[in-house]
Amino acid sequence: MSSTSLSGGGSLRGSVRVPGDKSISHRSLLFGAIAEGETTIDGLLPAEDPLSTAACLRSMGVKISAIEAGSIVRVQGVGLDGLNEPKEILNCGNSGTTMRLMLGLLAGRKDRHFVLDGDASLRQRPMARVAKPLAELGGDISGREGGNKAPLAIRGNALKGGCITTPVASAQVKSALLLAGLTASEPVTVIEPALSRDHSERMLRAFGAELSCNPQGPKGPSVILQPGAVLRGQQVVVPGDISSAAFWLVAGLLVPGAELTIENVGLNPTRTGILDVLEMMQAPLTVLNQRDVAGEPVGDLLVKPAQLKSFNIAGELIPRLVDEIPILAVAALAAEGTSVIADAAELRVKETDRLAVMARQLRAMGAELEESDDGLVIPGGQQLKGADVDSETDHRVAMSLAVAALVAEGNTRIARADAAAVSYPNFWDDLARLQRG
Ligand code: S3P
Repeated sequence: MSSTSLSGGGSLRGSVRVPGDKSISHRSLLFGAIAEGETTIDGLLPAEDPLSTAACLRSMGVKISAIEAGSIVRVQGVGLDGLNEPKEILNCGNSGTTMRLMLGLLAGRKDRHFVLDGDASLRQRPMARVAKPLAELGGDISGREGGNKAPLAIRGNALKGGCITTPVASAQVKSALLLAGLTASEPVTVIEPALSRDHSERMLRAFGAELSCNPQGPKGPSVILQPGAVLRGQQVVVPGDISSAAFWLVAGLLVPGAELTIENVGLNPTRTGILDVLEMMQAPLTVLNQRDVAGEPVGDLLVKPAQLKSFNIAGELIPRLVDEIPILAVAALAAEGTSVIADAAELRVKETDRLAVMARQLRAMGAELEESDDGLVIPGGQQLKGADVDSETDHRVAMSLAVAALVAEGNTRIARADAAAVSYPNFWDDLARLQRG
């Protein structure tokens, strides 16, 4: 993997259109695959993770046109029960979303056998959180470490319905169970401890599935999916990914003289926790042109530098910004006062242990911060120093360290910087362009 060198002291100016939302991209491919007829996807993220989902679906006989930046992707749906048993192992690459949603999609494919695998990082990630509740519905999934780790084998079964209370607020778990519910014999109810992103619910409904959502349910946010509806191909428009926009938001706030407009950003309320935190930090952030695009709210974000205040985050806010914590750690270092992140133990089972990796890499740049079991304590007002750092193969760490490098004194060399391609293939090109102004 390649490294990138960056020096602090420059500025950042201009407009940037971040690539399509990763979560919505995966779902549009998956739901399109099992719908009747054609689904067109405008703005699909042409990055490694959605390519993994597309490759798995193609191995099961789904025709998907070439996935290239700027082109509309066409998926020829095979219907709810049309997926073929693949001859090869389904390779989910680095993508937890691919593996977990595939488990839900495939558990109910009666009389078919599937094997899922991924890269070294994905083989370390917990899958029992999906496999176990699927077993309650009649799923048969086995794997290493008692079925918790890939490679995983799925023996397709007829599924029954049920009510599952998940111990973690995870959209991947919830979505896997909803996908399984599509072919179950009875309704499937999912109750979460806090509301996770709801893209599956929105898109499944648009495709014709019957579901009812109660975000204020007495035992926690709940979704009930009624099986039996036929999904119909749709025209999906994918908004820009707020999790990719987050790097430019923080860069625009921290880099002296910056002025950035980030266009076409998805503003689904289950994803905008970062905007709430930036407001807590008194960031001068303006949302322009708010609109609705194909069932998802979208807007443009304008940001300029300012002295930020510290923040304190925990509880139900965490699932709404779970992927933005690495870049928020960078923002906290520049704020006035000490910031505290708690209830974020989920970060330890992402592509890397993001609490440990961010603490280690920011310390290499001279930062002082404390790691707790489930978060970070980050004193503000710190000047970073250029250093040799490493993404440790994590895309969001690579991009967070890039923003840290822009505000550091001197040069920073980021090893394995090309990890960014997992969710943002043009990140380094966009950065170079914004640096030229
Ligand atoms: C995702 C859900 C989140 C998030 C991931 C994408 C999704 O994971 O971190 O990047 O598309 O459903 P969890 O469900 O594990 O919280």
